[in-house]
Amino acid sequence: MRKVTVVGAGMVGSTTAMRIAEQGSADVAIIDIYGDLARGKALDIAQSLALTSSASRVEGGDDYRLAEGSRVAVITAGFPRQPGMSRADLMEKNADVVRKVVASVAEVAPDCVIVMVTNPLDEMSYLAWKTTGWDRHRIMGMAGLLDGSRLAYFAARELGLTPGQVQPTVLGSHGDAMLPLPRFTSAAGVPLSELLAPETLRELAERTREGGAEIVSLLKQGSAYHAPSACAARMVRAVLEDEGLQVAASVLLEGEYGLRGVFLGVPVILGEGGWREVVELPLSGEERKELEDCARRIKERMEELDGWLAGS
Ligand code: LAC
Repeated sequence: MRKVTVVGAGMVGSTTAMRIAEQGSADVAIIDIYGDLARGKALDIAQSLALTSSASRVEGGDDYRLAEGSRVAVITAGFPRQPGMSRADLMEKNADVVRKVVASVAEVAPDCVIVMVTNPLDEMSYLAWKTTGWDRHRIMGMAGLLDGSRLAYFAARELGLTPGQVQPTVLGSHGDAMLPLPRFTSAAGVPLSELLAPETLRELAERTREGGAEIVSLLKQGSAYHAPSACAARMVRAVLEDEGLQVAASVLLEGEYGLRGVFLGVPVILGEGGWREVVELPLSGEERKELEDCARRIKERMEELDGWLAGS
């Protein structure tokens, strides 16, 4: 069977591993510096599979050889946000972890696709790309799907629909420079911008932007994992099955949307080998300006990361 590796046996990592194993679409390796934690979670998940009729094998440990032959590696290792912390605060702490784990994965699974989940998301995706030197199509950050899923939930509640009836579009960064787009978010086929008042749209956008922080402040410890793992597992499935699924993800732009050299959340088509292409939405002048502003802000943080890398 095909194999997927999840690095990091925390809540996001272990629930992602569980969802992939339950789908039965791949064997799953869970790797963590705390080998027993990864072993324990793997055993626990494996012992649940008799009830889901999945034939996936699940193994855990601290040895990267477990990842050998993986088609996809989901990187969740790192420190979660604590209340009051921004994603950017995490940058230096997690850059050190991500650089090491990505290099270790690349050594044993040189042909895999990397789905980055560790925050700050856009910067860590960039770091994975820099560390591996791989073709940009094989590296993507999971964010737009999660932010969109949050927007879909909030909009559906407002409209009395089910979340699945809302097709969201959230671009930009997974952070302050997030760009929910009501004109490209449809509820049962109608753009949100035609269904809700501007004030309501602003509130939904704000709550979406703060969606992760809202959960961090409620949990008191750690950050969200149910929705993030659902999104990571969905992206993995799209790659494994060569689906051609369109989702928003953080990828390296090389001219798309007139932007270059920046990891930014944009719609991409997922399939075997990673993301196939960027979908360029017909943005208005104002929307384009907002996206460019998001790109400028992320680029500044990428440069900060470059500075840190040069000095470390
Ligand atoms: C969130 C974290 C995972 O948005 O970034 O919940």
